[in-house]
Amino acid sequence: MGSPNQTTDISELVEALNLLRDEAERDLPQASSEQDLEQLRVAFLGKKGKLSGVLRMMGKLPKDARPEAGKVANGVRDRINGLLTENAQRLEDAKMAAALQERIDVTLPGRAPLSGGQHILNQTRDLILDVLKGLGFEMARGPEVEHDFYNFEALNIPEEHPARDMQDTFYIADRVVLRTHTSPVQIRSMMSAKTPPLRVACFGRVYRHDHDVTHSPMFHQIEGLFVDKNVSMADLKGTLEIFTQKIFDDEAKVRLRPSFFPFTEPSVEVDISCFACKGAGCRLCSHTGWIEIMGAGMVDPEVFKMSGYDPEECTGFAFGIGVERVAMLRHGISDIRLFFENDLRFLKQF
Ligand code: FA5
Repeated sequence: MGSPNQTTDISELVEALNLLRDEAERDLPQASSEQDLEQLRVAFLGKKGKLSGVLRMMGKLPKDARPEAGKVANGVRDRINGLLTENAQRLEDAKMAAALQERIDVTLPGRAPLSGGQHILNQTRDLILDVLKGLGFEMARGPEVEHDFYNFEALNIPEEHPARDMQDTFYIADRVVLRTHTSPVQIRSMMSAKTPPLRVACFGRVYRHDHDVTHSPMFHQIEGLFVDKNVSMADLKGTLEIFTQKIFDDEAKVRLRPSFFPFTEPSVEVDISCFACKGAGCRLCSHTGWIEIMGAGMVDPEVFKMSGYDPEECTGFAFGIGVERVAMLRHGISDIRLFFENDLRFLKQF
């Protein structure tokens, strides 16, 4: 051994290296995660780690002892590296085993994707329009923001008519309204198809200053218009009979009651025999045996004139039906607001 302040005893170094190896053999198998193991790697083999600390003693060894000490140090480094690899594998195996422990029941039924459905009002619209298409009606459309001329004036609704009252109508600007019914599409259709015969139907949103359990400020109407030579009230009644039989009840009868609309003459309210009690009287029909379903009538000659048709040449009938009302009757719904609240518990029933 050389003098203590210049050299280190090789056996001292070897002992320190062996202690380090023992320490690694004790600690590494206890690492419980990859992070633990990484911390241990840095602690033992890192630049400022324990092995580097011991190797710093090497400089103090006599030159001839250094190769021997280097051999032992390499052996310890290899051993620690081996321990790191072994324990990394141990942790990986444990992870895999835990994953395999998770049981998957392959016999469980899969989760069905949520599927949407058609809104009950659209179903009702399609039902009605299909029947009208079957009767030869072509589809027409018109704007929801409408000029006073089409919504009122051309339909023979004079200035002082109550339907023009601000209470009933939403005005957008002077003489521009949210249409209060689909009847303006009658005018637009006649103006764009200059010569009869004309058989058109229109579906769309309409707006009124109305709200209670059977009236909504926005609702939907379907309009029908038939113009030709010699169209009569009998044609109207026959058409409505087929229409209501297809929509409500095979045996439905139609009753026309005198009414008033400025754009039809004569005008009628259309009742059908109650499909719930077959006319005997029940709650649905207020014990009358009849249910009111729409307004209709023969096109007023003034309306023909406004639309560029010759009232001497042609006659026609028109009708307008509330889509919500049809859906409420068909499905026994008592509150119109349910259609617009988008509560899936309600909508999923249809
Ligand atoms: C009209 O709107 C006429 N344009 C119908 C017409 C067309 C008559 C062609 C003659 C010829 P009325 O205001 O009655 O008529 O409305 C027709 C239907 O719309 C009513 O029977 C009712 O079912 C529905 N309705 C009216 N107001 C509302 C409302 N606020 N909410 C829901 N439905 C309504």
